[in-house]
Amino acid sequence: MNPIRLGLIGTGLAVEHLHWPALRQMTDRFVVTAFADRSAEQGRRFAALSGLDPARGTTDHRELLARDDIDAVLVSVPIPVLYGIARDALAAGKHLLCEKPTGTDEEQARAFLDLEREFPGRVVLVGENYFYRDDIRHARALLDDGAIGKLHLMAYRRAGQMVPREGRFNSTPWRQRPQYRGGVHLDAGVHDIAQIRMLCGEVARVHGVVQWANSTIDSPSDLALNLTFASGAIGNYTACYSEVPVPAEPNDMRLYGTEGVLVLSGPQEERRVTLTRADGTTRTDVFRGIDNGYFAELCDFADAVRLGEPVVGTIAQSVANMRIVLAALDSADRAAVVALEVSGEGGVPLWRPRGADGLFEGLPGRHQISEE
Ligand SMILES: NC(=O)c1ccc[n+]([C@@H]2O[C@H](COP(=O)([O-])OP(=O)(O)OC[C@H]3O[C@@H](n4cnc5c(N)ncnc54)[C@H](O)[C@@H]3O)[C@@H](O)[C@H]2O)c1
Repeated sequence: MNPIRLGLIGTGLAVEHLHWPALRQMTDRFVVTAFADRSAEQGRRFAALSGLDPARGTTDHRELLARDDIDAVLVSVPIPVLYGIARDALAAGKHLLCEKPTGTDEEQARAFLDLEREFPGRVVLVGENYFYRDDIRHARALLDDGAIGKLHLMAYRRAGQMVPREGRFNSTPWRQRPQYRGGVHLDAGVHDIAQIRMLCGEVARVHGVVQWANSTIDSPSDLALNLTFASGAIGNYTACYSEVPVPAEPNDMRLYGTEGVLVLSGPQEERRVTLTRADGTTRTDVFRGIDNGYFAELCDFADAVRLGEPVVGTIAQSVANMRIVLAALDSADRAAVVALEVSGEGGVPLWRPRGADGLFEGLPGRHQISEE
């Protein structure tokens, strides 16, 4: 099969650090034929780092979309402009991989959902790399196999310092003065919610409270969220984007079941999933060198474009993640518990490499198991 001819719209930090490192290893599936960035300087920077011909770059995404040597586009622009460009891409007849979230608020989320009906012939994948992350998919497979019995409690915490640092995501002015609801909790928080939905299923009710305690961002820095899942399990998610340094914290997710406990922990370089069974024995799976799911996400998109396979990262799945963040903010505004309409999607499907028996074939990184 010929590689998909891909155009990149937006070539900033996410493309530079997350998508390009995966794409350059996938020349059997993708060839980047053109790129567009509103900033000519960023376009030149991307051409230099990728080795692509600068003549393939433009500052106008419409010029890129008018090319007939592009089958699909990756849209990776600031959140307030995602929807308009996503729509332009579909209207130009391109398949679309669009970064998360599905817009700035509930109104744009609905507009995103409408795109599925309006452009039925195109593949659309909304980026959610946590759906494709090896450690999370492994944890999900264990849960599906009944490894901890029935889940009754989830505890998940993410606390760390967040101040602008050159070359890091929080250096972008559009994140410091967000023109989208919830700021960092919509931008980064949707990934944690994706993990929660992958492992605990759909959320029925939330009660959220927020604090504004970081003067470098114009959004709440802290969110404490109690959740009731459709299964009846309960959980708590705490996110703290602190202005001052915080001591090293485990930042892990713990899932307590009737027959065991599952813990997801560790930084990107070494993700760990530890199962502690009721008899005290443990199994630890260690994942080193995984890319947090970007390679697998691109595999899913390629299979959909070339073979007509359904994708896991649908618009509806991304909207379901976003709506939990929005419900948390509504709950904080109203000082009340907010009920969610449990989506008819039936949870997040578990992605596996196409044609593979296991979960990790053909993906980057190493996987090691130890039993005690
Ligand atoms: N999946 C993930 O892990 C992840 C991580 C970071 C960012 N993201 C998402 O990726 C997107 C981009 O984030 P980023 O950190 O790369 O931001 P960024 O600011 O570093 O890059 C965005 C780029 O888009 C360009 N741009 C802005 N408007 C444009 C337009 N109209 N046409 C063409 N180019 C335009 C900017 O010049 C900039 O170079 C966001 O939607 C964000 O939510 C996802």
